Amino acid sequence: MTAGRGNWGSRVGFVMAAAGSAVGLGNLWKFPYLTWENNGGAFVIVYLLAVLVIGLPLMMSEILVGRKTQLSPVPAFTSLGGKKWSALGWLGVTSGAIIQAYYIVIAGWSLRSFVQCLGWSLQGYIAPAESEFGEFLSNGPLQIGLAFLFTLFTASIVYRGIGGGIEKANKILMPALFAILMYLVLTALTMEGRSEALTKIFMPNLSTLKLRGFLEAVGQAFFSLSLGLGAMVTYGSYLDKKESIFKSALWVVVLDTLVALLACVAMFTIIFSVSGLGSRVSGSTIGMLFITLPDLFYTHMPGGVILGPLFFVLVAFAALSSTISLGEVTTSLVIDLIGWTRARATIVTTCVVFIGSILSALSLGANGLLSSFEFFEGKKGVLSTLDHLAANWMLPVGGFLITLFVGWKLGRRTCMDELGLLQSNPAFTAWLWIVRIVAPAAVLILLISVIMGKDFS
Ligand code: PFF
Repeated sequence: MTAGRGNWGSRVGFVMAAAGSAVGLGNLWKFPYLTWENNGGAFVIVYLLAVLVIGLPLMMSEILVGRKTQLSPVPAFTSLGGKKWSALGWLGVTSGAIIQAYYIVIAGWSLRSFVQCLGWSLQGYIAPAESEFGEFLSNGPLQIGLAFLFTLFTASIVYRGIGGGIEKANKILMPALFAILMYLVLTALTMEGRSEALTKIFMPNLSTLKLRGFLEAVGQAFFSLSLGLGAMVTYGSYLDKKESIFKSALWVVVLDTLVALLACVAMFTIIFSVSGLGSRVSGSTIGMLFITLPDLFYTHMPGGVILGPLFFVLVAFAALSSTISLGEVTTSLVIDLIGWTRARATIVTTCVVFIGSILSALSLGANGLLSSFEFFEGKKGVLSTLDHLAANWMLPVGGFLITLFVGWKLGRRTCMDELGLLQSNPAFTAWLWIVRIVAPAAVLILLISVIMGKDFS
């Protein structure tokens, strides 16, 4: 262990933190949306396959690199692969900073929705005008203020370090998140739309799945499991040598997938319980979470007065545990590379990333130029551009290179040692060949399709 870096107190501490990183807006907003758009069942099966075939092996690979070196991505890849491979670490850290910059803006919306719902719960629901959300988005100072608040929450936890900050926070955030989610799901399941919802999610109908659905499933597996940028290398670097990498990774993958499925069950049931709404929900990723759901809580749902504010506590907690992990990626880089104290590293990296957040916050209508420039076709403004760049390009490229690094460069013996194996066995051989061939091939197909114009963000 590198002196003073800190360590998770236990495997549970690691699993809570890593699952906290994985469970986020991607589970609550992107997964239900993609499942809806791809017509349910068959997409869910392809997603589960992507998680199993690419997600789990890649998660193990990232944790393995971190645990072996006990370093953050840049020095980790350099020390194992030589100077050339430091580029892979830099790519990851840059992706982390980019995602952090815009993710925090969206996370900030959960704070305003929480306050709004609290008001409705106490004083009665007044349906907002249709233009209300658009006006909120184009209110620059409010967008920056909310992003700033979320940045403060994130930094104040990263600042406290691994055991005393990140592990402690996640040990509260994650169980609270599960409890609220279960309450939401159980309440939703008392509503009449449940059988239609369960059928849509779990009855595969392969004829409705297009190629795009396959590719979206792979992209979503990356984003949802926080893979391809070294977040799991970073968290893995604090994992005790005694712990099993396979079991730790499996827990994280299972918890993340469970939350995504439960969120889907709750949202679909609520939507199907309102007659006629099922055919109208489409086209808006953000709308479902921040506009449609709050309205349905107060107009159609039993106990909506309690669920309204609670739901946005859930969204905020999920987002916070993810932004913490992104903050740790940049902070630990500076600690490892320059040798700064954690306090200094946290403050400086937070300020740098916040510049990106300000630009993203102003790109939702407040500033004409920032909102309208179009670098990627159809992606207007800074926030959409950063999301497209990170999710469609940087994570897949990072993931592809990490699998090649672990599969071909690291060597079989090193992998076996770190996985705690004295002899090879069929499961290890299968993992190795998945990492060497299957996972990179799948990611390559994804990348080629992105080059040919498909969008996954
Ligand atoms: N996994 C997070 C989510 O699903 O919302 C997003 C994320 C967090 C991606 C941290 C990458 C990361 F390093």
